[in-house]
Amino acid sequence: MSSHVNRYQRIARYYDWLDLPFEYGRYRAIRPQLFRGLTGHVLDAGVGTGRNFPFYPQDVSVLGIDSSPAMLAKAEHRRSQFTVSIELREMNVTRLDLPDDTFDAAVASFLFCVLPDDQQRLALRELRRVVRPGGSVRLLEYVRPRGALRRIVAGIWAPWMDWAYGAGFDRRTEEHIPESGLQIVEVHYVVSDLIKLIDLSVPD
Ligand SMILES: C[S@@+](CC[C@H](N)C(=O)[O-])C[C@H]1O[C@@H](n2cnc3c(N)ncnc32)[C@H](O)[C@@H]1O
Repeated sequence: MSSHVNRYQRIARYYDWLDLPFEYGRYRAIRPQLFRGLTGHVLDAGVGTGRNFPFYPQDVSVLGIDSSPAMLAKAEHRRSQFTVSIELREMNVTRLDLPDDTFDAAVASFLFCVLPDDQQRLALRELRRVVRPGGSVRLLEYVRPRGALRRIVAGIWAPWMDWAYGAGFDRRTEEHIPESGLQIVEVHYVVSDLIKLIDLSVPD
């Protein structure tokens, strides 16, 4: 088992509690932007405990994948509260056991800030492969803040983020986009200079 799987196996039972202040203080306001205008079959990569479920549009069907069975068990429990069709499967985003062009769109929230840099390109390529030409790939991710004060605050938080979630502010996701074959539609900050929405498309 990789260290990330072990980590999420350990924290799954506390995850929603640990994240509660961020979920309600920050994430719930921005999650809808991940799904704006999406239709059809959608992949939610690194689905976690299913925090995106309330924001799925009514007319989509979703496959949520995650490498941690314990996180998926939490998502399975949450799934019963929603009417949208949601399937859950254990899978690594860098090796998706799925055919090409399966989805109309893929989303990932706070997955790429967890993935080590050497896995980012693989993961982006896999998302590109399983989304049909013309489809969307959207990422919601922490980045290293530019402002001096926020950098200091991020520096204080960084050891906790690393220990608890294996996450960092230093991932270079945007640098890997050109090699992945995905095209940038728009990249913009959704929480000050700390969280970005990266909107990508699969070329026709
Ligand atoms: C910070 S949590 C985010 C969960 C959820 N997307 C959210 O917005 O609350 C990151 C999730 O990614 C999963 N994960 C980490 N590495 C992964 C990989 N290589 N493939 C699939 N899932 C992975 C973890 O198990 C965890 O559930």
